[in-house]
Amino acid sequence: MDMRLMAEKNTPRGEMIYHENPSALHIGTLPDHCAMTPFAPGQDPFGKRENSARIEMLCGRWGFRFYDSIIDLEDDFTGADFTETIPVPSCWQLFGYDIPQYTNVCYPITYDPPYIPDDTPVGVYRKEYTYKPDGYRRILTFEGVDSCLYLYVNGKFAGYTQVSHAFSEFDVTDFLHEGENVFICAVLKWCDGTYLEDQDKIRMSGIFRDVYMVSRPERRAEDHRITADCEGNFTFTLKGTDGVITLVSPGGETVFSEKVKNGETFKYTVSDVKQWSPEIPSLYKLTIETDSEIFGECVGFRTAEVKDGIVTFNGKPIKLRGVNRHDSYPDTGYCASEEQIRTDLSMMKRHNINAVRTSHYPNSPLFYRLCDEYGFYVIAEADLESHGCVEVYNDFKWTKGYGGIALIAMDGQFKEAIADRARKLVIQHFNHPSIFMWSLGNESGWGENMLNEAKVIKSLDSTRILHYESTHHLDDTPNDILDVVSRMYPSPAEMKDIIAEDKRPLVLCEYSHSMGNGNGDLEDYRNTFHSDPRFAGGCIWEWCDHSVIQGKTPDGKVKCGYGGDFGERHNDGNFCMDGVVYPDRTPHTGLLEAKQVYRPVRVERTEKGFRLTSFLVFENAANILDCRYMITEMGKKTAEGTVDFDLPPMESREITLPEAENPTGESVYITFIFTAKEKTSWCEKGYFICRDQIKLHENTEKAPEPSAEGVDISAEKTRFIVTAGDMRYVIDRRKGCISSMEKKGAELLDRPVELNFFRAPTDNDTMKEDWYRAHLNDYVTKVYSTCAEGNRVTISHSFGWSIYQPFYRGELVLRFYGDGSVRITADGETGEKVAFLPRFGLRFFLKKSFDTARYYGYGPYESYCDKHHASCVGDYTAKISEMHEDYIRPQENSSHFGCKFAEAISPETVIRFTSDRDFSFNASEYTQEELAKKRHNYELEKCGSTVICADSGMAGVGSASCGPQLDEKYRIPLPKVHLEFTVSPANS
Ligand code: GAL
Ligand code: MG
Repeated sequence: MDMRLMAEKNTPRGEMIYHENPSALHIGTLPDHCAMTPFAPGQDPFGKRENSARIEMLCGRWGFRFYDSIIDLEDDFTGADFTETIPVPSCWQLFGYDIPQYTNVCYPITYDPPYIPDDTPVGVYRKEYTYKPDGYRRILTFEGVDSCLYLYVNGKFAGYTQVSHAFSEFDVTDFLHEGENVFICAVLKWCDGTYLEDQDKIRMSGIFRDVYMVSRPERRAEDHRITADCEGNFTFTLKGTDGVITLVSPGGETVFSEKVKNGETFKYTVSDVKQWSPEIPSLYKLTIETDSEIFGECVGFRTAEVKDGIVTFNGKPIKLRGVNRHDSYPDTGYCASEEQIRTDLSMMKRHNINAVRTSHYPNSPLFYRLCDEYGFYVIAEADLESHGCVEVYNDFKWTKGYGGIALIAMDGQFKEAIADRARKLVIQHFNHPSIFMWSLGNESGWGENMLNEAKVIKSLDSTRILHYESTHHLDDTPNDILDVVSRMYPSPAEMKDIIAEDKRPLVLCEYSHSMGNGNGDLEDYRNTFHSDPRFAGGCIWEWCDHSVIQGKTPDGKVKCGYGGDFGERHNDGNFCMDGVVYPDRTPHTGLLEAKQVYRPVRVERTEKGFRLTSFLVFENAANILDCRYMITEMGKKTAEGTVDFDLPPMESREITLPEAENPTGESVYITFIFTAKEKTSWCEKGYFICRDQIKLHENTEKAPEPSAEGVDISAEKTRFIVTAGDMRYVIDRRKGCISSMEKKGAELLDRPVELNFFRAPTDNDTMKEDWYRAHLNDYVTKVYSTCAEGNRVTISHSFGWSIYQPFYRGELVLRFYGDGSVRITADGETGEKVAFLPRFGLRFFLKKSFDTARYYGYGPYESYCDKHHASCVGDYTAKISEMHEDYIRPQENSSHFGCKFAEAISPETVIRFTSDRDFSFNASEYTQEELAKKRHNYELEKCGSTVICADSGMAGVGSASCGPQLDEKYRIPLPKVHLEFTVSPANS
C-alpha cells in the first residue's frame, strides 16, 4: 500500500475505514423504525415538528471546510479551524465548492466496486451543541446526507452511515458533556453506496435534509406499526414500551381509547369506516401516549391489492394518472422545504394528477405525510439504481446487450447493502396510507440481490403491491415475486402485447417523456389505459426540469444551466430538462396537456344530447365540480348556461340542452367547463378543472373566388411585376418566389417569401440528423420554368443541396386578384432522402411593425396535431412578442394547430391568411435557424422581422426523446405534399 494515502491510526481520519466496505453500512446508528416525532405530554402531537419540546432543530449555518480530496484531510481534521460556513441543509456544489455534474446512465466514477476514487472530495461540517443533562437520551438525526457521513463528537468517532435518502440516528448521549459540545461531520462525495445511487440527476453532495436532536427517555416507544384496511380493520403494534392509543374519526369523534402492551398487536374494527382514497383523503387521528411521550399519526383506512390481474384500491379498479418526481430545485438542489413540497403537490392536484412515484429513492418523511393529506397514490421507491452497469458490461460497440445492467444485482458483496435499502424504505415509511406500492428501485437489473430484496419487502409488509421494472438479467433468477408487470416507454401497441403474455396488471412506471416541446402522445396512452382494466395507468416522466441557476444575464433573465454548463468532464447535456414544469415550476404546455387528458369527467355528444362520464372512482363528480356551458360561433358566444348534474363514480349520465339542438352557422362549438365547487387546500372555489369542447356545426360552403379584374402582370427578364388593387408584387423568376409585396407603395416584406420544409428540432425530433443531411434547413433552388398567363404565375422548381438529388420538386402557382390578394398553391413530391418531413408551409419575413397576431384555431397554448387537448378552438389575438414558449434549450414552439384563418397586424395593415384546409400558424420574433442554433433561451437574438409561418403540414411532437417514434398518424404523408394559402392584405 502506498503510505502517502494512509492516515495515522487512532486519529479521526484513521477511523474512516467504512466507505469502501459494503458490509459496514451503519456504525453506531439506532435500529430502523418508522419516522416518529415525540412531543411532550400536553402538547399537540399533530403539530409541527419544530414545536415539539423534545426536538431541537439544528438547521442553519454550520462551520464548513472543503477538501478536493480525502487525501488532503488532516489526520486530526476535527480540530482544524473553521473559517467558512454553509447552510444546513444544502448541497455544497451550490455554494461554490466543487461543481454539479449531470450524468444520466454513466457512473460519475471509475467502475471499481467497492472502491472509489482516491481523490474523493470531502465536506467537513462543524456544529456546536449545548447540553444540559436531564435524564433524556440525545439522538442526533440526519434525514439525508449524500453520500455518506462520519460523525465525531468532541473529537471522538461516534458513527458512520450511508444511504443518501434514508434518515439515520445516532444516540450521542455518552459522548456529550455538560455545556458546549462539538459535532464534526465528514461527508464524502462518493462511497461504496455510490454504485447503488446512479440515478439520472444532477449529482450533488452534502447534508441536504434536516438535522435535529431528539430528546427521548431510555425506555421508550422504539417503533410502531399501523395497518388499516378499507373494511375498518385496524391493527397497531407498539415496540419498546406500553402505551395508550386513542383513535379519533375525521369528524372528531373518539372511536376508541385503549391500553396497548409492548410487542402485542392490538386489533379493532371500526364500523362505518370512512375510507381513505386520493379522491377523498379522510384521515383518522391516532394519538399514542407512553409514560413521557406523545405521538400523533394520521391513519387512512384503505386496501391496495391486485385482484384477477387488476390493480384495485378499496376493491375498485384504478388508473394511475401519475408523474415521477425527483427532489430537484434549481436554487436549493436536493433540499425540499415544506413549502416547496406543498407547491409541487398542490400543483399536481390542480393538474388532475392522482399518483406520484418517488423516483428513484425515498423522500423525506414529511413528503409522505403531505401525500396522505392531499391524497395521492404513491409508489414509494427504494434508494437504488445501478444503471451504469450496462455501460460497464458492454464493449464499445454495445454488442453485449442490456443484461449487463444486472452486474450489481448479481454481485454478492452488495446483497446486504441492497436489502438494507429495502428495509429503510419500508420500515421508515410504513404507516402512510398514500403508499400503496413499494418499488425495489430503478434500473438495476434482476439477479439474486434483487430477488432477495423483494423477499425482504414481502416479509416486512404483505399489505402493499410490489413493483419493479428492471427485470433484465444475465442469469436465470426467477421473477414471479413481483405483483405487477412494469414497463417504461412502450408504445400503446406494445402495451397490448405485454398484457397478452402475462396475467398480471401492467403499470407504466414511466411513460411520455416530457422533454422539450411535448407531450404529444398523452391522449393515445390514456385511451389505451382505458381500453382494458388490466392497464393500471402510469406515471409521466417526469415532474420537473432539473437545473442549477447560474446567475442572471445583464438584462435580468435567470440563466438555467444543464449538463455541460458546469464544466463537467462527462455530462449528458439537456436530458435532465424533461419535466412537465420548468425548473421554477412554471407549467410547461405539456403539463396543461396532461391536466386535460387526465380530466376526471368527459363529455361526448349523443343523438339526443350529451353524455357525461366520470372517471372518478370514489367521489360523485357533482360533489366537487360545477359545470357550465358556452356555445360559440366563430369564437363568439351565442349562448351559455349552467348544467345541473349528478354523476356517481365511474358512471355516465345523459343530459339534453335545447339550445344545442339544430345548430346552424359557421364553426359552432359547445364547451362544457368544469370548475371546483368548493375551496380546498390546493385550489380556490371556481378553479378551472377541465373542459370538453365539442363541434356542433360547420359550414362547408367555400367562399367564392374573388374577381381577377384589374390585375396586371408584366414580364421582365428576371421578374414579373404584378399590380392588383393597391398591391404591387414582384416575383423573382430566378429564385421562383415573391420577393416584394408593396401596399400603397409601402414594402411589407423584409425577405422573399419561402417554401418552408424545416422546423427548429424539438428534443423529440430524434430524426433531426436526417433533416440536416437532406439540407431541409439550408438549400439551393433550381427554377425549371416560370410563366405568366392571365392572373396567374406558374413556377416549376426544385430544392436541394450538394451530394444528393433534390429533396423536393414541384409547381408553385400564384393567382392574383383585384382585391389585392394572392392565392399561393404548391404541389410537389419529396425526394427519396426525406423519410420524415417536419413541416410544409410558407414563411414570410414581415416588417416588425406587424407586432400583433390573430388566429382562429387551437389556442391560446401552443398546439400540434397530437398536442391540442389543453387548447380549444377560438378567436385569439396576441402580441407576437408574447407568442413564444421559452424552452430553456430553444426549439420549435408556439405553433397553432387547426386554424381557419390567421392575421398579421400592423398599425396600417392586416394580412389575412386563409387556406383550403385547416392549417398551422406561427408568429415569432425568432427564426427557426436561431432557435435551432442556440443552446439556451437566454442566448436567443431576435431577427428584427416578424416571422409568419403558415403550414399546411406540421408534424406532431410525440415524446420520442425517450420513447416510441412519432406515430405514423401524426406525420405528414409523403411523398406528395400540397399547400394552398390565400394572402389578403387590407387596411387596418
Ligand atoms: C429512464 C429512467 C429515468 C430517466 C429517464 C430518461 O430510463 O428510469 O430515471 O433517466 O429514463 O429521462
Ligand atoms: Mg437511469
